[in-house]
Amino acid sequence: PYPVITIDGTTASGKSTVAQEIAKALGFTYFNTGALYRAVTWRILSLGYDVHDEEKVVEACSRLKLRCAIQKIDSFYKATVILDERVPDEKTDLRSAEVNAAVSIVASYARIREWLLPFQRELAYQTPLVVEGRDMGSVVFPESPYKFFLDAQLEEREKRREKQGEKDDVEKRDRLDQSRSSAPLLCPADAVRLDTTKLSIEKVVDKILDVLWK
Ligand code: CDP
Repeated sequence: PYPVITIDGTTASGKSTVAQEIAKALGFTYFNTGALYRAVTWRILSLGYDVHDEEKVVEACSRLKLRCAIQKIDSFYKATVILDERVPDEKTDLRSAEVNAAVSIVASYARIREWLLPFQRELAYQTPLVVEGRDMGSVVFPESPYKFFLDAQLEEREKRREKQGEKDDVEKRDRLDQSRSSAPLLCPADAVRLDTTKLSIEKVVDKILDVLWK
């Protein structure tokens, strides 16, 4: 496989912007695995399923046709998720209040995570990656030597999410992500941990590039 840089962290810790900047700087493909869990959740909801019904959700997912397209957007490459030949809209579909509220429930199902595992790993055979998520360094790409974990104080993260104009219960989602039995959100022992509470995006990006270039 190609090199993989993993960026995990809590909700609204700055992962997405930072990961995109790192991908741009290195010419790697950016892959937001949160968008993958969001896309699955969006499709399940639009098919009318109750996300709390684990058996039905798992069964419905086994029938979904999932693929990825790597596109050049502005100055960087991005992996986009396509489900049943539908391309969900980033803002109105993937980041809706309904998906925000349901995604961590779908993501807590071990069989859903197992189903998505080979799909995520396969991408590393196509292109060098900057991957963003919750279990990139711990479960999906544990052999990566380039692991980062971002966090910030809850209050600051809630402020950032509000500024984005999104309805999202940051604390509840973190709690669900940290307490699930399958691939819980944690900082891998061999990851570089950064608290971004008082750091600008530029500073975080510089720190990560410094570590990578050492
Ligand atoms: O951007 P934000 O921090 O709000 O979240 P996201 O990265 O879009 O991820 C949305 C949700 O998907 C998370 O709260 C997790 O429940 C789930 N997720 C996961 O379980 N594993 C991943 N590798 C990525 C996301």
